[in-house]
Amino acid sequence: MDSIIVTGNGPLKGQIPIAGAKNACLTLMPATLLSEEPLTLTNAPRLSDIKTMTTLLQSLGAEVSQLQDGQVLVMSSHALDNHVADYDIVRKMRASILVLGPMLARDGHAVVSLPGGCAIGARPVDLHLKALEAMGAELELKDGYVHARAPGGLRGGMVDFPIVSVGATENALMAATLAKGTTVLKNAAREPEIVDLAHCLRRMGAQIEGEGTHTITIQGVDRLGGATHPVVTDRIELGTYMLAPAICGGEVELLGGRIDLVGAFCEKLDAAGISVEETAKGLKVSRKNGKVRAVDVVTEPFPGFPTDLQAQMMALMCTAEGTSVLEEKIFENRFMHAPELIRMGANIEVHGGTATVKGVDRLKGAPVMATDLRASVSLILAGLAAEGETIVSRVYHLDRGYEHVVRKLVGVGAKIERVSDR
Ligand code: UD1
Repeated sequence: MDSIIVTGNGPLKGQIPIAGAKNACLTLMPATLLSEEPLTLTNAPRLSDIKTMTTLLQSLGAEVSQLQDGQVLVMSSHALDNHVADYDIVRKMRASILVLGPMLARDGHAVVSLPGGCAIGARPVDLHLKALEAMGAELELKDGYVHARAPGGLRGGMVDFPIVSVGATENALMAATLAKGTTVLKNAAREPEIVDLAHCLRRMGAQIEGEGTHTITIQGVDRLGGATHPVVTDRIELGTYMLAPAICGGEVELLGGRIDLVGAFCEKLDAAGISVEETAKGLKVSRKNGKVRAVDVVTEPFPGFPTDLQAQMMALMCTAEGTSVLEEKIFENRFMHAPELIRMGANIEVHGGTATVKGVDRLKGAPVMATDLRASVSLILAGLAAEGETIVSRVYHLDRGYEHVVRKLVGVGAKIERVSDR
């Protein structure tokens, strides 16, 4: 099993290219199931989660080919010959549930295993199922699988989500494009990945209004066609690498970075003493006057501070001046990085969904273990700023969401390498 060794070595300088968004790509790929014509995605990230979705779509009978070293995905679902998404694939990745809505909408039946994914809380799929039921789906839970049927096809309905869910909004949005009549999604998620999905579906012929707001209205159409769509920039990868010069000093330009994707995050960086400047090619990040100040953070649905940047922000706060309070409001049990950061000398106390971080002068390198995707990258960020060597094990978590992490950080002067069986 691979490990990553990071040696803290001071300021970083240079450019880091930001990839297409994992989370956008994972919902755009199942959209191929809605149409018999090909869907081509450009700017796709090269990640193990994308491979898992590829395997899942292929198991259903879709054709998926990779061009340009995986940055272009050409998918065709003209002949789906299996409507069962098997536990062995679905358990690897929670986003697998996103094949349910499209398959059901197009062919009137689907069987999907209940998903697994990152160990960051219970993460049920009840909201996905309720939304599909509101569109006339008949659902049965049997032996760990959702059996869904809509014999006469789905019909438009009113879905009022009790809490904001990115995945449930995506599943419902895709399903509604082929439902008969009008569907209204209230309290819908407003994440950029939802907006990107709506843009792609519109290119395929869907009639959608209101994406990016609380209410999305979809007028169902008889069929969708093919399209070519570029995957939106990964705002979580962007935010993660913005933290590298914030933690280590120096100046790094994030190529393709857009401030509208990371607004709330930038406000916190500004308060912490980090400068973010828009350039012709992206965003340039450096410290304003050498010091990082503690700031408090509460995670919220977009446009609030993203839960997917909480662990990385905690790494920055470990050596900030003062005490910061980080409140996790989206997922329970999402502080698994805290004990690992404590092993590196951080002063962190966790009580329920709140972590209090008292800044220390310096972190010290230590062997640490990656526990989930965002936790693992927070340990790498911490290692960049620590004295000595940090060895991060179980880096397969990282491969799910960060392409070429070692190459990108080496490119800005970091001392980081990947080793096998150490
Ligand atoms: C997506 C992202 C994930 C991100 C999260 C929140 C993908 C592939 N993953 O996950 O990286 O951390 O949004 O921004 O895009 N919930 C229910 N019932 C449901 C669905 C969700 O109770 O049926 C709860 C969850 O447990 C959680 C909250 O709703 O507490 C929000 O989760 P949701 O927005 O659905 O996250 P995902 O779509 O799984």
